[in-house]
Amino acid sequence: MKIAILPGDGIGPEVTAEAVAVLESLGLPGLVLFEGDVGGIAYRRHGVPLPDETLAMAREADAILFGAVGDPACDALERHLRPEQAILGLRKHLGLFANLRPARVFAGLEHLSPLRADIARSLDLVIVRELTGDVYFGAKGQRVTDAGEREGWDAMAYAEGEVRRIAHVAFRAAEASGLPLTSVDKANVLETSQLWRDVVIETAAEYPQVVLDHMYVDNAAMQLVSHPDRFGVVLTGNLFGDILSDLASAAVGSIGLLPSASLGERRTDHGTFGLYEPIHGSAPDIAGQGKANPMATILSAAMMLRHSFGREDEAARIEAAVARTLADGILGGDLGGSHGTAAIGAGVRERL
Ligand code: IPM
Ligand code: MG
Repeated sequence: MKIAILPGDGIGPEVTAEAVAVLESLGLPGLVLFEGDVGGIAYRRHGVPLPDETLAMAREADAILFGAVGDPACDALERHLRPEQAILGLRKHLGLFANLRPARVFAGLEHLSPLRADIARSLDLVIVRELTGDVYFGAKGQRVTDAGEREGWDAMAYAEGEVRRIAHVAFRAAEASGLPLTSVDKANVLETSQLWRDVVIETAAEYPQVVLDHMYVDNAAMQLVSHPDRFGVVLTGNLFGDILSDLASAAVGSIGLLPSASLGERRTDHGTFGLYEPIHGSAPDIAGQGKANPMATILSAAMMLRHSFGREDEAARIEAAVARTLADGILGGDLGGSHGTAAIGAGVRERL
């Protein structure tokens, strides 16, 4: 079980340390951990946000545990040197096209959601976001128009193969869970979305038991906060998935609780090679203060055990321990509590 640990910037190192402690406490056979630099810290030490050594280490591993990247001191750098390029580069170079972002309101924490408790209670879904295509990775630039005006432009495109492979991931998730599948697009305006919808409909023929519907992204944003119970598996492209997953996490009540998995096609001995990271960012305002909630990263480690190592038992045990810790009132500042990073990590390990 070779795991590359990439803590990154801000609160990344603090939260990954707690997730590593949880993994180590399980006494798994053959666990080998490497650590590498990414993001602003890598820029400072190596001159680039994603050094070749880090990328090579990531390729060597069966799975990657990623903290967060982002550093206000780097915001003025040219785009290719900014910390965010580390995560975008890892996704692209490692072919991690399938991003799973589960979001659910934990029992007893409904009051933390900005939604009415009776609505919040029904929020339990997974967003399957395409991660290596779309307007994120299209040609882009700035130019001067004939009228002499500066113009920024970004090309949005999806090839049918890109849509089909992510659609299969979502259909398989819906089939396995028995949940309905909603494909989110903007087919009333965008050709990219029309092709997306056509390919999803074609793919559906292979999954007759999955209940599929299609929704425009603006409507989906509205339904996510008014009727979250309508959603089980949400399939969408890179840009819409970025936006909707933040919306879903805000509806849960704290971005500090949401894990994610980014999977590619390469198989490991017992699963799929993947990168696991909390949805939240580097939170520079609270970095180094021991205040950050490590639960999203701990839950990401659980997803790693499930998807990359076929260890469903241990994954479910970690998830149950986190739920228990929350139910026992061991809450970070993000949840209105006063427990720090180390206390929350210890709380989860005790219950494990
Ligand atoms: C995310 C983040 C990234 C994205 C940024 C940091 C490039 O917002 O993982 O959702 O836009 O994909
Ligand atoms: Mg985002």
